[in-house]
Amino acid sequence: MIDLRSDTLTRPDEAMRQVISSAEVGDDVYGEDPTTNLLQEKIAAYFGKEAALFVPSGTMSNQLCLKVLTSPGDEIIADADAHIFYYETAAPAIISNVQIKTISSQFGFPDLNQIENAIRPNIYYFPKTSVICLENTHNRHGGTIAPIEYIQKLHDLADSYNIKLHLDGARIWNAIVETGIDGATYAKYFDTISVCLSKGLGAPIGSLILSNAEYIEKARHWRKILGGGMRQVGILAAAGIYAFENNFKRLKTDHENARLFASLISANEQINVDMSRIQTNIVRFELSSSVNPLDFIDKCKKKWLIAKPFRWTNYSGCLLFRNYFRTSTHRRRYYPIRASISIKLSGNITSCEPIISAGPDNIIFSICSPLRTTSTQTGILEVGITSVMLFAILFF
Ligand SMILES: Cc1ncc(COP(=O)(O)O)c(C=O)c1O
Repeated sequence: MIDLRSDTLTRPDEAMRQVISSAEVGDDVYGEDPTTNLLQEKIAAYFGKEAALFVPSGTMSNQLCLKVLTSPGDEIIADADAHIFYYETAAPAIISNVQIKTISSQFGFPDLNQIENAIRPNIYYFPKTSVICLENTHNRHGGTIAPIEYIQKLHDLADSYNIKLHLDGARIWNAIVETGIDGATYAKYFDTISVCLSKGLGAPIGSLILSNAEYIEKARHWRKILGGGMRQVGILAAAGIYAFENNFKRLKTDHENARLFASLISANEQINVDMSRIQTNIVRFELSSSVNPLDFIDKCKKKWLIAKPFRWTNYSGCLLFRNYFRTSTHRRRYYPIRASISIKLSGNITSCEPIISAGPDNIIFSICSPLRTTSTQTGILEVGITSVMLFAILFF
């Protein structure tokens, strides 16, 4: 099966399962889980930060960072499509009692003048702007990489207003392998960073907060309040260490495959791909408005591609390549075949059962293609690409 929905759909391979089963563990609420401590030390050292904290999810990680950086009633600035704003179920309002000032952008990195204009003057009847959030790579913008020069300027801007900078680095790994800029260089500009092990790196669970020791201690306190204190969590940390040490470098292959895939589907005149956006593991594309989306979904199903609604603001397509691990008794193969396709269609659809966003010119479907090669595990990527190509050719 090729499931193209998300880079979170990875499953641990045999080697990862081995390290999970043999992990040395202790009670992490007591700070006594050696494997978790090791993971935290390793990742903190890699990013050149004083300390790290292992947490269950990227959402909790982001939210704990906001919690330690803000006071109730503050305002934070984020891109309008930032995960923190778009997908975290208003958690900043609930957990930190802050509001978000969003700024729309073309690639996920709002114009610095607009950010500066959004910073509140220090007057009692305004909320205090306390944090600016950056997402790198940017999920909803299609895996775009924030240029390092932009980050430097953003940092200087934030600093000049005494505002903290938070990085949602769920996919910072992808930016690192693509640009060759190391983790510490990215990290030095941020007060807090959230990184995920459970996206392209392929670990089943886990994110880390990186910061100074003081903020990490505060985050540990709030992690407990939110029920995120875990006990023998070394079994998960072991998977994280494995993912960091073995799978990080493999992201490059995902990017190559994403580019290949994008260039292949762009040959179809009904598909429009902006190649300038194909920077990491996500491919976005637009379907021609003449394509009936219901037919499209139908054909997808017949060709083993399952479509489901997905809301998308500016673009009609999104496809994520991610590491995917399968095992066999003979050998272990790594297949960067996971992707999600979201298709934004402008057309005459007014009803479609599982539609989330039913605006006639803003209907998004995400598609997964469950193709499975059982006989052979080689060439599965090629099978994946061929199948989607085939699907596109047959459909149109
Ligand atoms: C950019 C970004 N940040 C944060 C998260 C949240 O991660 P989690 O699903 O582990 O809560 C995601 C999830 O996809 C994401 O894409």
